[in-house]
Amino acid sequence: MRITLLIILASLFLSSCDRTNDSKASKPVLVLRYADNQSYDYPTSRAARYFAELVREKTGGDIEILVYSSGELGNEIQVYEQMKYGGVDFSRFSIGITSMFYESFAVLGLPYLYEDSEHMWRVLDSEIGDYFIEETRKTPVIGLAWFDAGARNFYLRNPLSFYKDISEMKIRVQETDVMAKSIEQLGPEAVKIPYGDVYSALQKFLIDGAENNLPSILHTGHYEVAKYIYMDEHFRLPEIIMMSEACKRKIEECNPEYLTVIEESAKEASLYERKLWQEEEQKAYRLLKEYGCEFIYPTEEQMDILRERMAPIYEDFSSYASLIEKIRQA
Ligand code: GCU
Repeated sequence: MRITLLIILASLFLSSCDRTNDSKASKPVLVLRYADNQSYDYPTSRAARYFAELVREKTGGDIEILVYSSGELGNEIQVYEQMKYGGVDFSRFSIGITSMFYESFAVLGLPYLYEDSEHMWRVLDSEIGDYFIEETRKTPVIGLAWFDAGARNFYLRNPLSFYKDISEMKIRVQETDVMAKSIEQLGPEAVKIPYGDVYSALQKFLIDGAENNLPSILHTGHYEVAKYIYMDEHFRLPEIIMMSEACKRKIEECNPEYLTVIEESAKEASLYERKLWQEEEQKAYRLLKEYGCEFIYPTEEQMDILRERMAPIYEDFSSYASLIEKIRQA
């Protein structure tokens, strides 16, 4: 019985890959699903559609990638779980979340690791970035290329004196221990909440604030409830496009050359996203100001205090000391 079922499934799958010339112009051979938890117009979702378009063109329409944005296929953890079994084919993840599945990835998101965006890109574009991608190749979810996600800042409901009062606050963090612990070094209670639930948590006074990049604060509308933005840039969390191993096998069976198309298109989408990101950060800054947000800039002295307070988290990563040093020197 089981064998019969397997034969039927296999023949269905094979026949879908084996198209005749007549159908070439009309129907895709493979229809794949790509998940992003950001809104339709957010740079990563736009870059995902660009990726899909490149793949469609370069495979002569054989592969169609449907992009689902706004977390339609679940939050990042749920999507990763689905990808392990091939339920979702591609997704874009924040490095913060991937560190739950690949311990070493947390290193790329340690507080105050990079001097600026150029520094981060020197790292990701070098053999160090390749090393992290390589780490994923042995797993059911494979990394393809990096996306930019800028620097993260605190944004709070109240115009309290940040340095004095933050220790009495509840701050939302991504659902990872590293992030919670890093933020707790500054004093507040870190509350792990999925990205899609942050707005209502702010609205219901469950938290006093959160931290994220400016485009996220804008696109989610969080600024409507937490408009005091502390530009301390404590994290730079790059993002990564990933493909499920099951998807890789489907593509390979259809045409092994298409895997190269996927890899190259992901790299092209990465360059495209970086460009979009620069524009979006500026736009977000301008619009958030226009919508009444107050930007507060820490002094150099205050920045030194923040760096110093967050530094102990590096002790948890002493086994990666030489890698961290390499990143710092890049
Ligand atoms: C960024 C990132 C999201 C992530 C979010 C978070 O906005 O792009 O993918 O979910 O941070 O803080 O959870």
